[in-house]
Amino acid sequence: MAGRKVKIEVRNLSKHFDDLIVLHQMDFDIYEGEFLCVVGPTGCGKTTFCNVVTGLLPITEGSITMGGEKIDFKKHNVSFVFQEPSCIPWRTIWDDVKIGLEIRKVPKKEINERVSAILDLTGLTEFKDFYPSQISAGMKQRVVIARSFVTEPDLLLMDEPFGQLDSSTRFYIENQLIKVWQKTKRTIIFVTHNLEEAVYLSERILVCTQKPTGIKEEVIVDLPHPRDITDREFVKIRNRVTDLVKWW
Ligand SMILES: Nc1ncnc2c1ncn2[C@@H]1O[C@H](COP(=O)(O)OP(=O)(O)OP(=O)(O)O)[C@@H](O)[C@H]1O
Ligand SMILES: [Mg+2]
Repeated sequence: MAGRKVKIEVRNLSKHFDDLIVLHQMDFDIYEGEFLCVVGPTGCGKTTFCNVVTGLLPITEGSITMGGEKIDFKKHNVSFVFQEPSCIPWRTIWDDVKIGLEIRKVPKKEINERVSAILDLTGLTEFKDFYPSQISAGMKQRVVIARSFVTEPDLLLMDEPFGQLDSSTRFYIENQLIKVWQKTKRTIIFVTHNLEEAVYLSERILVCTQKPTGIKEEVIVDLPHPRDITDREFVKIRNRVTDLVKWW
């Protein structure tokens, strides 16, 4: 990752819930435009990490800064995609995707242009007038992705967003996500249990330890997209991550 500009600095980050030490003195950087995956055993604090980055939970110790400043939600646009797709039942896809732009009072003409472009990129244009009840779970997750990217977030946190999807839908959406990421150059932190998914998507994988959680190792995935899960290099990296995870 030499030569890349650092966007987010996590320094000596700890998060305790009373006596329970979850995150313990974590130190790492996230680069501008990076696609970073975080893997770790269940309950190690991946969701907790997302929650402290978004400010939903206070930090116990240490700091997270973006562009040298403490993350401030009035200034920085941090977007969060959860495991469960959440669409607004009474809004069409078009109206759902534009909501973040309306809140930010973006001019109507620009809203139309941006929504139109992101629906195109996520393959949703022909479904723009559909309601959530009329579309599949995979499509709903695409709506959520479109809605998160349309505001051009400084940081996009994704917490196991595709865990519920069957594998062929997952591959399709993963490819779509890569396309959107390559086009928009957003910075993404993607949490997953699925090691193959981590190698398929990311430029770098942080492998976390058991609680008190630190970073066991980082694995660089220097492979071009679209990736081939049967490719020798791919399999080598996946095996490497699997080995690290065996000793969780
Ligand atoms: N609000 C809370 N109050 C007290 N303990 C909490 C709270 N939120 C999480 N925890 C504890 O912190 C630890 C980390 O939980 P977290 O949900 O962040 O793990 P995770 O890595 O996301 O797990 P999973 O892989 O199952 O999603 C767990 O032991 C959990 O019980
Ligand atoms: Mg979690």
